[in-house]
Amino acid sequence: MFSLLHLALFPFLVSTAPSPQGWHFVQNGTTGIIALEAIIVSPTLALLFDRVQNDPLQINGHPAWGALWNLDTNIATPLDVVSDTFCASGGFLSNGTMVSIGGNVAESPDATDGRMMLRLFEPCIDASGAGCTVIEDAQSLRLAANRWYPSSLRIFDGSLMIVGGMHELASFYNTDPENSIEFFPKKDNGIPRPSPFLERTLPANLFPRVFALPDGKVFMVANNQSMIYDIETDTETPLPDIPNGVRVTNPFDGTATLLPLSPPHFTPEVLVCGGSNSSGTIPVEELTSQDVASDQCSRITLTPEGIKRGWIVEKLLEPRIMSEMILMPDGRVLIISGAQTGYSGYGSVKDRSLLAEQSNSDHPAFTPTIYTPNAPLGSRLSNQGMPSTDIARLYHSSVSLTPSGNIFIAGSNPNKGIVNSTIFHSEFRVEYLNPPYMSVARPTLHNVPTTLPFNHPFTATVEIPAGLRTENVQVALMDLGFSSHGFHSSSRLVFMNAILAPNRESITIISPPNNRVFPPGPAYVFLTVDGVTSTGVHVMVGDGKTPPVKNQGIQLPL
Ligand SMILES: *[C@@H]1O[C@H](CO)[C@@H](O)[C@H](O)[C@H]1NC(C)=O
Ligand SMILES: *[C@@H]1O[C@H](CO)[C@@H](O)[C@H](O)[C@H]1NC(C)=O
Ligand SMILES: *[C@@H]1O[C@H](CO)[C@@H](O)[C@H](O)[C@H]1NC(C)=O
Ligand SMILES: *[C@@H]1O[C@H](CO)[C@@H](O)[C@H](O)[C@H]1NC(C)=O
Ligand SMILES: *[C@@H]1O[C@H](CO)[C@@H](O)[C@H](O)[C@H]1NC(C)=O
Repeated sequence: MFSLLHLALFPFLVSTAPSPQGWHFVQNGTTGIIALEAIIVSPTLALLFDRVQNDPLQINGHPAWGALWNLDTNIATPLDVVSDTFCASGGFLSNGTMVSIGGNVAESPDATDGRMMLRLFEPCIDASGAGCTVIEDAQSLRLAANRWYPSSLRIFDGSLMIVGGMHELASFYNTDPENSIEFFPKKDNGIPRPSPFLERTLPANLFPRVFALPDGKVFMVANNQSMIYDIETDTETPLPDIPNGVRVTNPFDGTATLLPLSPPHFTPEVLVCGGSNSSGTIPVEELTSQDVASDQCSRITLTPEGIKRGWIVEKLLEPRIMSEMILMPDGRVLIISGAQTGYSGYGSVKDRSLLAEQSNSDHPAFTPTIYTPNAPLGSRLSNQGMPSTDIARLYHSSVSLTPSGNIFIAGSNPNKGIVNSTIFHSEFRVEYLNPPYMSVARPTLHNVPTTLPFNHPFTATVEIPAGLRTENVQVALMDLGFSSHGFHSSSRLVFMNAILAPNRESITIISPPNNRVFPPGPAYVFLTVDGVTSTGVHVMVGDGKTPPVKNQGIQLPL
């Protein structure tokens, strides 16, 4: 008897059989610049940004502060970025152009003020990045406000929403805030919208954690507070605080993610882990690099009942600050990098360990953890079978899922300038964390349309290695996000309903219902069969037009 399973009903039931191949760290290549920010810009390339400093990779007679990292050859090619991208943000528009947002005043005469800059990286067709570069134009590509440490998020109309930041010169807390929201392309004639939420969450509201909900509203977490922002009416609705005084935005960087969304309801849940329970009023000189970070995870379901229930607390396996959460194509969440004690930044807290010298943090978290969202409360976190690295990834490091399905890890520089004498020295080595599926025969996906309209069924051909059971087939549509300061802005996983043909040679998939469930723009489709994940296929979700784009697809059933 043939069984046509409605497969996405059980998105998290993954085979738990231990693979002899296991997870592995593999070091390969050096970036030549500090990978302070990273974003995957094509199936073969990651775009890296560093602050203006004395990086060894050179271009046009000065150090490079941008580079394209080739994921196939493990070689970095310098890019001539002229304005300072120090602690900037970024993301893709609905037409596939990547935008780098904000930065700082440059400390070199070779560079320019990056605080109001918008930098474009147009879709890059060449696999090695030839001819692809960062476009800067201080006259025409400009924010309305100076923004250092802002966040950004692609929203339902394909624009980027740009949130918060500071003007300059704050070395730890946000003492010079820009408590407003603006958009690119501009809305409201370019006039920023003031945010009472950002005002209330001072002085620890930098890099607010912001998430696009499936109804088009935005959930935000800053300091120990949360709220829902309605872009269309410019209204803020305060939600419960994170319990137990735990603060999760810079300089107390916890990490946060929107958990995978599944049909038919796409119920949004947000998970926030780590950070610090420091009060936020202690002068920085009285904090130490040995203060234990928070080991709290807090999770909330963003429905009326879920909000009434509030945040549900769980415990990490160790305290963590500046870690990052990566959505995996099977719906699990990888928690990686960061430290177990101290704070974000460098050179500001007292009692910095003698060997660490400038780092505000210490005791790196060398072992990743896996979080299984639909396991029972109390048994979701595990590092069983996880390897440990010996490369510290502290302040100014970045990490991303790659289109091949492994994890790219780079950067770390809790120092002023490029330093090779401290224990937590400037780090140029790239490491990959390879999941078990990287070393076994994997399923493959072919003939996926390059453009995916919403609510659109399509049939792809598949090759599924013999030996994989097809009771559990998952198809994930993913935005791989922009990595900076423990946060992957715009990172997203939406499971798509899929029916595998009985002969295992084709699969019929239905794209997400509309542009609010998946904000239109570039994405990757991954197929996971029996816990083994394919390489991701690059697609454009929506009509690929320049924002703001119209609503597309069908409304969700209520
Ligand atoms: C590093 O990457 C290059 C290019 O992909 C490859 O040829 C080489 O074998 C890799 N080295 C290691 C140690 O994995
Ligand atoms: C959040 O922090 C504020 C001070 O910044 C404090 O008044 C409030 O009690 C905290 N909330 C919780 C739930 O701890
Ligand atoms: C703050 O966090 C530390 C480290 O996890 C813990 O030992 C301490 O009890 C917490 N303090 C409060 C008031 O919750
Ligand atoms: C830093 O120092 C180590 C040895 O102390 C050396 O192997 C490494 O190449 C140096 N790195 C740089 C970027 O100079
Ligand atoms: C996408 O839109 C932006 C903003 O209007 C524009 O600058 C950029 O050139 C567009 N990219 C493409 C590929 O059309």
